[in-house]
Amino acid sequence: MISLGIESTAHTFGVGIVTSEGEILANVWDSYKSPEGGMRPHELAEHHFSTAVKVIRDALDRAGLTLSDISVIGYSRGPGIGQALLIGAFVARSLALKYRKPLVGVNHPLAHVEIGRKVTKSYDPVVLYVSGGNTQVITHNGRRYVVLGETLDVGLGNAQDKLGREIGLPFPAGPKLDRMVGKWVELPYTVKGMDLSFSGLLTEALRRIKSGERVEDVVWSFMEVAFSMTIEVAERALALSGKDELLLVGGVAASPRLKEKAEVMCRERGARLKVPPVELVRDNGAMIAWTAILSYRIRGPEPIEESSIKPQWRIDEIEWPLTDI
Ligand code: ATP
Ligand code: FE2
Repeated sequence: MISLGIESTAHTFGVGIVTSEGEILANVWDSYKSPEGGMRPHELAEHHFSTAVKVIRDALDRAGLTLSDISVIGYSRGPGIGQALLIGAFVARSLALKYRKPLVGVNHPLAHVEIGRKVTKSYDPVVLYVSGGNTQVITHNGRRYVVLGETLDVGLGNAQDKLGREIGLPFPAGPKLDRMVGKWVELPYTVKGMDLSFSGLLTEALRRIKSGERVEDVVWSFMEVAFSMTIEVAERALALSGKDELLLVGGVAASPRLKEKAEVMCRERGARLKVPPVELVRDNGAMIAWTAILSYRIRGPEPIEESSIKPQWRIDEIEWPLTDI
């Protein structure tokens, strides 16, 4: 079985092609970028619409396949930005109809988790999922994935990107902010039980920059506080669940500083840290293709006329067994 997966929840239109053994034959994407920072939904939709055909062709060329060789078509059904999701769902539905292939709608956070488990061979980890829109600590409870802790407001990546926009950096700002070095500035650290909040931290960082404090100092301290809060919750989840592996996924997992903090924490408590390669932690089509294979095995295809988008779909709404890796 060969699966073609389409990712289009936010900035990236991606197409991956994956076999039923989990071999990645292609993983191609085109990401929306904005020189002024930020993401405007209609611009995302235009971007995805205009790049879709090229990205699909590139992925098929790389895999050396045609659409008739594909056995199942997966698409990211949600959560995400409605206008971006619609383009991916529409393209996937059109291909499924034209080539008479089964169609599978995939939950985007679940796809981050499943590709991470597969490529790092991590069977039952605590997952730290840190991206633009999401910051969640997830684990499997025997019947489904559950969210042990999460942000109560913005995702860590979105908070970073907003800070970047205010200091004139293009979107996405995360990688540039991550490399800035400065001196310590006291900023609010907000962990509430197992949950996190980044909005107070962001507001205070912006206020300090406006009042003339050195940008590098504020950015460095912002990242330090945001990452420490996140790792604290992940550590508590390891302690409470008794699990001994931490899997990092989501675009912010590309941050060397976050990985370093996670490594120190894991070493201190005798846990193993698992981090997939960058092209598989960020938004990509291969994770959708792989999760479509799992989903097809578990519950078969969805009737094409019932294919839809679910902009608010949570990982913990889905009955999902812990699959072999
Ligand atoms: P989701 O829909 O899962 O929330 P997303 O749309 O935010 O995903 P991802 O590709 O998973 O997309 O994550 C993008 C985020 O990752 C952006 O906020 C970006 O700034 C951040 N990011 C990317 N590289 C780095 C890095 N090296 N350091 C810190 N942040 C990074
Ligand atoms: Fe994502």
